[in-house]
Amino acid sequence: MTNKTIAVLGAGNMGSALLRGILGSGWGRKGRLLASHPKAAKAAALRRELGIRVVPTNREAAQKADILILGVKPQILDGVLAEIKPVVSARQLVVSIAAGFPTARIEAALGDRVAVVRAMPNVAAVVRLSATVLCAGTRAGRKEMAQARKIFESIGMVAELPEYQLDAVTGLSGSGPMYVFQIIEGLSDAGVRVGLSRDVATALTVQTVLGAARMAEVLKVHPAILKDQVTSPGGTAIAALHSLERNRLRAILMDAVEAATARSRELGQATR
Ligand SMILES: NC(=O)c1ccc[n+]([C@@H]2O[C@H](COP(=O)([O-])OP(=O)(O)OC[C@H]3O[C@@H](n4cnc5c(N)ncnc54)[C@H](OP(=O)(O)O)[C@@H]3O)[C@@H](O)[C@H]2O)c1
Repeated sequence: MTNKTIAVLGAGNMGSALLRGILGSGWGRKGRLLASHPKAAKAAALRRELGIRVVPTNREAAQKADILILGVKPQILDGVLAEIKPVVSARQLVVSIAAGFPTARIEAALGDRVAVVRAMPNVAAVVRLSATVLCAGTRAGRKEMAQARKIFESIGMVAELPEYQLDAVTGLSGSGPMYVFQIIEGLSDAGVRVGLSRDVATALTVQTVLGAARMAEVLKVHPAILKDQVTSPGGTAIAALHSLERNRLRAILMDAVEAATARSRELGQATR
């Protein structure tokens, strides 16, 4: 458990998933977690749901925190950085989860005084199964990276990569839960199409996705080998595989990740 005060500036989908994960893990103290939200109704809902302090301005949250997590959309991050600049000091750590937004741009906006870490988690933070990648800005040393690591380890696995790979990470794992949700929905529809009830189709799909993911995690063999193991000659799986190949499932996934990666790059350049 940490003694640091952590503020999430912009507690929307990802920011509140992060807060829920940190609270659920027991690593963050309720009394030391803080969020900012400009809309009174959303602030009240967050207070009610999470039981933490929610303040109306980013500046107030930034003043009170040791660690600031920037959870707003990249499109408005320049404005939020300008708002908090007067109160941010070198004793604080700034962690940004904004897609595409480079650490150098945050450092420049805050006057090059503070340590900045860029993080790309995903929304599975809410069940503490996020895949998060961290990279250090020029002023973030081992101590700051260790602090950031602690935060994101409370909501899943953490890796560190050089910043030039962060757009690719955003395209793959940052946006990744959505690909899997689409696959789950499609398989559930497929189950209904072949005669199962929606509840049964969805429950079987979710458990199948969990089981296949766990096999890949535990067995640590190439997915092509796992695929070979379940495609027996003339069987059902090879008939299904033929259909997936004809319809280019793997190329579709590659296109999707490439599109998300390109969009992350664009967001980082958009308002310069
Ligand atoms: N969603 C993901 O899966 C995911 C994954 C990895 C990283 N990220 C990153 O996480 C960040 C947030 O994404 P999101 O999907 O969570 O978006 P989101 O749900 O829109 O969250 C942003 C929150 O900030 C609030 N907000 C708007 N203006 C603000 C201001 N001036 N000060 C403080 N808060 C303000 C928004 O309120 P209103 O809705 O009322 O405007 C909203 O609640 C983005 O930078 C994104 O790149 C997202």
